[in-house]
Amino acid sequence: MEETLAPALQRRHAQSLYRQRRIVTGPQGSRLSLDDGSVLNFCSNDYLGLANHPEIIAALKRGADEYGVGAGASHLINGHSRAHHALEEALADFLGRPRALLFSTGYMANLGVITSLVGKGDAILEDRINHASLIDAGLLSGARLQRYLHADINSLHKHLQKQANTDDRRRLIATDGVFSMDGDLAPLPALSATAQHYNAWLMVDDAHGIGIIGKQGRGTVDHFALDQNQAPVLMGTLSKAFGAFGAFVAGSEALIDTLIQQARSYIYTTALPPAIAEAARTGLALLQAGDERREKLTALIQQFRNGAEQLGLTLMASQTPIQPLIVGTARQAMTLSEILLQDHQILVSAIRPPTVPEGSARLRITLCANHTATQVDQLLAALDAGTQKMVQ
Ligand SMILES: Cc1ncc(COP(=O)(O)O)c(C=O)c1O
Repeated sequence: MEETLAPALQRRHAQSLYRQRRIVTGPQGSRLSLDDGSVLNFCSNDYLGLANHPEIIAALKRGADEYGVGAGASHLINGHSRAHHALEEALADFLGRPRALLFSTGYMANLGVITSLVGKGDAILEDRINHASLIDAGLLSGARLQRYLHADINSLHKHLQKQANTDDRRRLIATDGVFSMDGDLAPLPALSATAQHYNAWLMVDDAHGIGIIGKQGRGTVDHFALDQNQAPVLMGTLSKAFGAFGAFVAGSEALIDTLIQQARSYIYTTALPPAIAEAARTGLALLQAGDERREKLTALIQQFRNGAEQLGLTLMASQTPIQPLIVGTARQAMTLSEILLQDHQILVSAIRPPTVPEGSARLRITLCANHTATQVDQLLAALDAGTQKMVQ
């Protein structure tokens, strides 16, 4: 085995594609403790700064006191606690959907939904830069997977027209709400109109939208004022703006019932620890009441974008906390990331192919409501110095 695996690992090293973990020794925050010192953190998905919030920690402790730690079994055996149920009801209420269903992770939610809704003889249409879990789910489903050009309705139309005469029984269009590596919003009104035109269903993975966009953080579907008929499948995660862990799907009675009956990644896995559900429910309450945090975040995003423009740095068309800086090759992205860390004690990890297309390796800079304006200025100064050092 060693001999078989070693060459591919060496190749990864040589191509600057080797993936490595850093050891974090404290909670998430604008500063982060690493094994080898404290750094400014600009790559977390904890956008509202709730992951270390005292009320969420207290809810987790209370939950552990009441329910212990392990859920003991899957939801359908005896693992579905009142804590899980209360969170599902709160999420459904928040998102204005009849029901919501918890999954252990967003990855599992996407696998569960897509494989329950489409299969052999059906078609799934996905934005080319959708999150890997949506793509993997499409592949696993056995449906015909077609990837249209990023946010390109004409491309989607072409794919749908081509198969208008095929016997595909069901058609599902799946998209990120906020694209996880680019930070832009999916054109949801046009996607939903297209879905209705071709009698397809629209699924929105709003992992990076809920909590950040829309009224009280209700996400991209709310931002574009789409109702349940227009976007019948809404998925979100509890690990980003919520500051907790887990994921959910919100939708109609029939959708949720179908998932409970059929979604293998729901049925054949242990339920989340109930204490996590309690923590996430507190995260939801904080997120809902979090307009001040969202306003602060918006101001930081604007400050960062204005500053970057003044420095001549080209950012992508994103108004969300995800502000990628395209660098080029994997090696260049790794170099800039390393300069920021070594010279400026700023952590922004490099995102490389295959996570992003070849030639578009980047620093995926993310902002968080806990950052200060001074910290954003520090980041800008470091990016300026770092990019200049790169060209020397
Ligand atoms: C758009 C999107 N969907 C799904 C996921 C997966 O969620 P989880 O981390 O809960 O598995 C992520 C990232 O984590 C994501 O960015």
